Amino acid sequence: MEFFIDSADIEAIRELCAFLPIDGVTTNPTIMTKSGKEPEQVFAELAEVLSEDQKIIAQVVSLDYEGILAEAQRLAQIRGGRNVVVKIPVTREGLRAIPAVKAMGISVLATGIYSPDQAFWAAKAGADYLAPYVNRMCAYGDGVGQVVELVRTLAQYGMGAKVCAASFKNVDQVHRLLAAGVPAITVSPDVIREMVGHPGTSAAMDTFTADWERAYGRTSL
Ligand code: G3P
Repeated sequence: MEFFIDSADIEAIRELCAFLPIDGVTTNPTIMTKSGKEPEQVFAELAEVLSEDQKIIAQVVSLDYEGILAEAQRLAQIRGGRNVVVKIPVTREGLRAIPAVKAMGISVLATGIYSPDQAFWAAKAGADYLAPYVNRMCAYGDGVGQVVELVRTLAQYGMGAKVCAASFKNVDQVHRLLAAGVPAITVSPDVIREMVGHPGTSAAMDTFTADWERAYGRTSL
């Protein structure tokens, strides 16, 4: 499975990649603007902080067919085109653009997915990844359940598209999708930090260290 960081915060990406086997980074136009930097600078920094094995997944901004195609070609040149995936929204223009962008040899992640039916059509159009917005879908129904069902639907038809679950408000949503076997997921730095930290672990280590020091007068083996 693949686990991505959903962020353009270079320091947060550097911090998490230093101790977790992260598979890459996803951004969207809003995430990019939050960096406070020009897009070219963000892409250059991502290329510097990530290894070539880690994917850079960046979104087009234009919403018209020609604009999507032109921007997809530009984004595909980030880091010399190595391990780059272009995010295209599942609008009518986007669904039309997906096969054309794929025909250019560019990997595609279909984004802005609010229903399993939109995801189904993006998969049929040839998208490599499908990004359902899990937490936002929860505003309309059982977002987590619908994405679990989507994973099953794709498997049932032997469709190659991978669900890359996105938009999470808490660890429980992430946990439930991982338990259901989602093949890819993208999560914000804050939620990733919550996933790996537990007060019980810190308390247990403090006790081990204190017991050891009391017995042997040092804090190492
Ligand atoms: O990158 C797309 C998705 O992760 C958006 O998340 O938190 O804005 O719903 P959010």
